Amino acid sequence: MRRTHAILSVLTAGALAAAAVLTLSPSANAATTLGSAASAKGKYFGTAAAAYKFSDSVYTGLLDREFTMVTPENEMKWDATEPSQNSFSYSSADTIVNRAKANGQRVRGHALAWHSQQPGWASSLSGTALRNAMVNHITNVATHYKGQLYAWDVVNEAFSDNGDGSRRSSNLQQTGNDWIEVAFKTARAADSTAKLCYNDYNTDGVNAKSTAIYNMVKDFLARGVPIDCVGFQSHINSASPLPSDYQANLQRFADLGVEVQITELDIAGSGTTQANTYANVVKACLAVTKCTGITVWGIRDSDSWRSGDTPLLFDNSGNPKAAYNSVISAFGATTSPSASVSPSASTSSPPNTGGGCTATFSNNAWTGGFVTTVTVKAGSTALSGWKVGITLPSGAAITNSWSTTASGSSGAVTFSNVSYNGGVAAGASTSFGFQGTGSAPSGTASCTAS
Ligand code: G3I
Repeated sequence: MRRTHAILSVLTAGALAAAAVLTLSPSANAATTLGSAASAKGKYFGTAAAAYKFSDSVYTGLLDREFTMVTPENEMKWDATEPSQNSFSYSSADTIVNRAKANGQRVRGHALAWHSQQPGWASSLSGTALRNAMVNHITNVATHYKGQLYAWDVVNEAFSDNGDGSRRSSNLQQTGNDWIEVAFKTARAADSTAKLCYNDYNTDGVNAKSTAIYNMVKDFLARGVPIDCVGFQSHINSASPLPSDYQANLQRFADLGVEVQITELDIAGSGTTQANTYANVVKACLAVTKCTGITVWGIRDSDSWRSGDTPLLFDNSGNPKAAYNSVISAFGATTSPSASVSPSASTSSPPNTGGGCTATFSNNAWTGGFVTTVTVKAGSTALSGWKVGITLPSGAAITNSWSTTASGSSGAVTFSNVSYNGGVAAGASTSFGFQGTGSAPSGTASCTAS
């Protein structure tokens, strides 16, 4: 018995040691992208795209690899598609649509009727002439793209920002209050396949503008005016921060029975604050079943209409930022190395046979820097909080982190849960990450329920 026990003890210890030393996180070999992380949760992840940048291989490499939805940034707008009355030009937009289709990506059309970016001939029209020109424009463009688009932004930004829920004063509004429903009916008559969306900004929380849109959608649905979705542009900055009722606002539109789509997301800022805000947008969309996806308004910071705010997920060189990793983590995925870098083995504390937790991590490492994504898994009992210990190699330093609070930036670092990810159901997981300079961590990650 004693000898048998001794042999069993050795075998057991060996098994435990093996489990603790090399547990490659499943994603270490998966090619995780924004699109694949979102798809795993039944959502799309898209970007605005500019055809004139298609000769830039860094741009097209990211466009083709990371996204599952594409919105032409300017190429489908009135001034681009009908530069002179009743003379249509689709070449730039078709370039984007054809590339997306070749990549298996879907396309959002943007935008059929808008007060801005009208061609000169249209902006000088009024009354019946403008109304007829709008109907003709929508009919021709929606017919040209019939069957090719997931959705249209049929009408863009028709409500004012003056805080009283009124319509924006524009030449289109002056053709009559019914211009919006006429636009939707015209689009539906031309294309019965695309989802028809109303799209606007400064509507991310419950406010006079979003409530006016809510009431319009409710009225349209009651009267059978065709509308399928509402787009929330979500241009976030210090003047328009992500509101605390963002999710509730999305949910109230979803409860009307329409899809909600985040259509032009960009978040001014940098580092952990920006990363956490992106994560909060993802979490809100995940919490609303009818939130079908998120589109960021550009790929690299330098591609943004407001590049000075560094608001996007990739830096000017096309490197993923902390915000990129926090989006991946918020979808519950873990970043995997790009083709040019090899992943480090992740390690974990001994398998969890009882309560407590285990931690596995994978690295995206390159010369001089790394991103580490850590997955915390609850054991047989739920967690209400956790602490993960990782020792960084000498010379390595954490530059930012997301979905965690780090005790320090070098050496032995303890990572604690934040307010929204301390609770983990038995057997479930949550993830956090950090970026740093120097060599990526290796060795054993400890995990303690707290
Ligand atoms: O194509 C011309 C080019 O020929 C000319 O040399 C150049 C210099 O004037 O202008 C180019 O057109 C510019 C166009 O982007 C294409 O690059 C326009 O000037 C410029 O005003 C236009 O800006 C776009 C803006 O909409 C127009 O309102 C931005 O790229 C685009 O990101 C932005 O996107 C809007 C959404 O459509 C609606 N929601 C708000 C969002 C941000 O404003």
